[in-house]
Amino acid sequence: MSPEMPTPGRSEGTTWRRRGRRYVCPLLVRQFPSELPFGFLGRVAPPSPGVELTLEADRIPADRALEIVQGARSVAETELLDGGGGASVAQLEVERRSADELGRELAGRLQELWRVGLRWVASADSRARAEGERLRLTERLAAVGFRTRVPRYEIAEALAPPGRWGGQRRPSGYWQTMTTDGLAAFYPFGDESIVDPGGVLVGLSLSDASPVFLDRWAQASYSWGVFGTTGAGKSFAASLIALRTRWLRPETELVVLDPLGEYAGLVQALGGTVVHLRDPSQGRLNPLDPVTTGGDLREKASRVVTMLRALWPSLRDEEAATLDAAVSRLYARGDREPTMDELAEELARGPAADGRLPTLAEVFRTGSLAGVNGPTTLQVEDRTLAVDLSGLPEEHLPFHLTYVLDWTYHRLVGRPGPKIVLLDEAHLIARHPGTIEFLDRAVRHLRHFRAGLLLLTQDPEDLLQSSSGRSLLRNLSATAFLRLAEVSPACRAFFGLSTSEAEWLTKARLPTDAGYAESLWRVGPWHLPLAIIASTPEYELLGSALGGGRDLPADPASAARAGGL
Ligand SMILES: Nc1ncnc2c1ncn2[C@@H]1O[C@H](COP(=O)(O)OP(=O)(O)OP(=O)(O)O)[C@@H](O)[C@H]1O
Ligand SMILES: [Mg+2]
Repeated sequence: MSPEMPTPGRSEGTTWRRRGRRYVCPLLVRQFPSELPFGFLGRVAPPSPGVELTLEADRIPADRALEIVQGARSVAETELLDGGGGASVAQLEVERRSADELGRELAGRLQELWRVGLRWVASADSRARAEGERLRLTERLAAVGFRTRVPRYEIAEALAPPGRWGGQRRPSGYWQTMTTDGLAAFYPFGDESIVDPGGVLVGLSLSDASPVFLDRWAQASYSWGVFGTTGAGKSFAASLIALRTRWLRPETELVVLDPLGEYAGLVQALGGTVVHLRDPSQGRLNPLDPVTTGGDLREKASRVVTMLRALWPSLRDEEAATLDAAVSRLYARGDREPTMDELAEELARGPAADGRLPTLAEVFRTGSLAGVNGPTTLQVEDRTLAVDLSGLPEEHLPFHLTYVLDWTYHRLVGRPGPKIVLLDEAHLIARHPGTIEFLDRAVRHLRHFRAGLLLLTQDPEDLLQSSSGRSLLRNLSATAFLRLAEVSPACRAFFGLSTSEAEWLTKARLPTDAGYAESLWRVGPWHLPLAIIASTPEYELLGSALGGGRDLPADPASAARAGGL
């Protein structure tokens, strides 16, 4: 009879043990991946009673830690001198370099070394099921680069509770040497300071489903960014944040700049107004109205030039200079509200009257932008408002967005209470140096009157290209990355993402597959992998409000379970 045959009453085999009614099967780590994949715990051990991880850690004194690292460095050095031996020269060079780097970090007290005892235990109500659970765990660990070992004839040592063996009798593979960063990767993100009292729920930790609350009003800047490829769930996440903010602080004003016309349902559900820019019967916004700068005509003239350059990106330098001069003359006429008609006249009168500009300006008189020709007539008093830009020619969107942003900015100045401006499809503005600079300035000033921007765009690269874009990114107090198509080295470096984080982001699960969105939040020093998940009532509200009626997943409860609820 094989020693592994289940015998009635038998309580231990070479690789398993019975504990009460359950069978437990330990698993040890033989070799770690070169870098711990980000968020790996959530993937390797999805919340289930069948898998348990035990960890004990002792700090290695600093002088001993340095000795270990120097030892590793000299081994690599010696092998390199010997021409590499069995290992590749490139690999040995990497080892030597990382030993040098770690040595510096240890000396600077940026890292420490730890002696870590690590063991996984799979369990189930039958031996076969427990072994199956261990096998699946082995496969999941292998998929993220771990090599594991099933301890044989060492069951007592492998399963002994932490501390009992005083560190002496453990199976090989139990003790590992790790850096503080490596050890930290094993911990769920339960730090109290990321649970802002009075904050909104932004997501559930992917490693242990603990909720993470953030309070933008307690942060240095009230502006956040949300980045993700198409369909990653940006608009949904932003709507969820807006909704939860309103529940928590009903006095919060919300203005949505909505290029695709997706937010009408949400804004109406919140009792607000939707302004359709394509519909002149609702009233007009005059891009030239100097009220937006509180009568500061120089500032207004410069914003108008920015708007028009976004409309006519092909202007040559001399044309831009002519435009600038015409706009200045327009405002030099005094503190009154000019119209596009007057601007066209001014362009026709100037030194370049026979150039392209007067022809381009015809668009405001007889062309598709005639709707903005005339004084401002739009009046909206609601605390909740969407400006819907859908149905307008795509090439005009940067222009429309810029003057609407100018108008929004003015509207929020001086009003009491917290305010959020949600700007979707921000890439439309980010591509033009003038408009992105305007947005950057707006973000910096918004906080002085308790307003924050919620900026959404598909690719952070859009903003990394210019110094204003980078300045804007630095002024976001939270950045949420959803699935990204790719993460460039420049993007990694700017946001301080590790290679495994960057790699993980290109594979983060999409809401269409998972029923929730996987995301990585950068908040201060923290990098938090979170599931952005809506409760059923939220989902029902947003599902029908956003984009006018989206389908519910077949089984929202299973989506919630998959999210670790
Ligand atoms: N956290 C979520 N939970 C459940 N469903 C979601 C979630 N996020 C998004 N969805 C659904 O996934 C689809 C795509 O989401 P969304 O429109 O927010 O993507 P997006 O990133 O804004 O895409 P685009 O760049 O094309 O605007 C929508 O049908 C939305 O209802
Ligand atoms: Mg969207």
